Amino acid sequence: MAHKVTLIPGDGIGPEITESVIRVIEAAGVDIEWDKQLAGIPAVQEYGVSVPDACLDSIRENKIALKGPLTTLVGKGFRSANVTLRKQLDLYANLRPVKSIGGVPSRFDKVDLVIVRENTEDLYSGIENLISPGVTQAIKVVTETASNNIARFAFEYARKNNRKKITLVHKANIMKISDGLFLDSFEKVAKNYPDIIAEDKIVDALCMNLVMDPTKFDILLLGNMFGDIVSDLAAGLVGGLGVVPGANLGEKYAVFEAVHGSAPDIAGKNLANPTALIFSALMMLRHLGEDAAANKIWKSIVVTLAMGHHLTKDLGGTLSTSEFTDELVKEIESRS
Ligand code: NAI
Repeated sequence: MAHKVTLIPGDGIGPEITESVIRVIEAAGVDIEWDKQLAGIPAVQEYGVSVPDACLDSIRENKIALKGPLTTLVGKGFRSANVTLRKQLDLYANLRPVKSIGGVPSRFDKVDLVIVRENTEDLYSGIENLISPGVTQAIKVVTETASNNIARFAFEYARKNNRKKITLVHKANIMKISDGLFLDSFEKVAKNYPDIIAEDKIVDALCMNLVMDPTKFDILLLGNMFGDIVSDLAAGLVGGLGVVPGANLGEKYAVFEAVHGSAPDIAGKNLANPTALIFSALMMLRHLGEDAAANKIWKSIVVTLAMGHHLTKDLGGTLSTSEFTDELVKEIESRS
């Protein structure tokens, strides 16, 4: 029986890379009935809202979605549709595996990190005020409940995936109350998991340590804002945003998406690297129990990239999005 999955192609490079993912999944023989929904700018243009009820209802019904990137305008316009989706569906955990892949030119070759980012509060709460002309305020919300939930998620993930250490990243020396609570909750939850090493690091020191030697880290647990920033930094350690996937997870629903954004500078040019979204789709296939297909696609990508001449432009190659997808599909079909 076909799996039913909500598909949000997104905008910018979104439609090009989701097209690639659909081809790859088809080639691997997984039967998915995609329920296409709009969010972000295309939804505002069509329905006047950035996250229409139809989109939320579809995810609530299917429980699972694959999402392309959505543009959020800087300094104006509607609230981020990404943030709205995460809040509305209580997708409190953002999971981002960052792994070196043979054949992808990068600064390090043995990186195997997992970023766990709290996904519902912090400075993303959207509480901003203009106090008086020239004076503004943004409020960072940190609750004990959300801090406990994300800490528990990280420790459970560590146990299930045979990970040994979690580093909690914070700025509790400056934000003594808010990040202090985040750290305190982590330390309390850690007591229930004596088998996992629990340490903490101040975010600035962590950034320096990461770029010096990322192999020293295993799981990084961060609040929403630092999680966003450090994710892009970590992507830069393994070849860039074109190869790092992600999943937004809650108790009921899961929305899979790449770490990168809509890349307006290359949108519509058939230049985007679809690998990050394909890797996100592999996380989705595993969530659906399609491990054999996920493994087959994984091996095919590894082989395709390792050849060294099947690379998209962001990785120093010459292939377009569709040419790279053609090569990958050929490799998958050769394994059928
Ligand atoms: P971005 O991630 O879209 O792009 C940063 C740089 O990386 C650009 O030079 C881009 O060409 C390159 N890049 C990104 N993905 C790539 C890929 N798959 N293949 C090749 N090159 C790739 O970040 P930027 O420019 O800061 O944001 C653009 C828009 O995306 C903004 O409106 C932002 O709010 C939104 N955004 C959306 C996200 C989401 O939907 N989850 C996540 C991050 C940003």
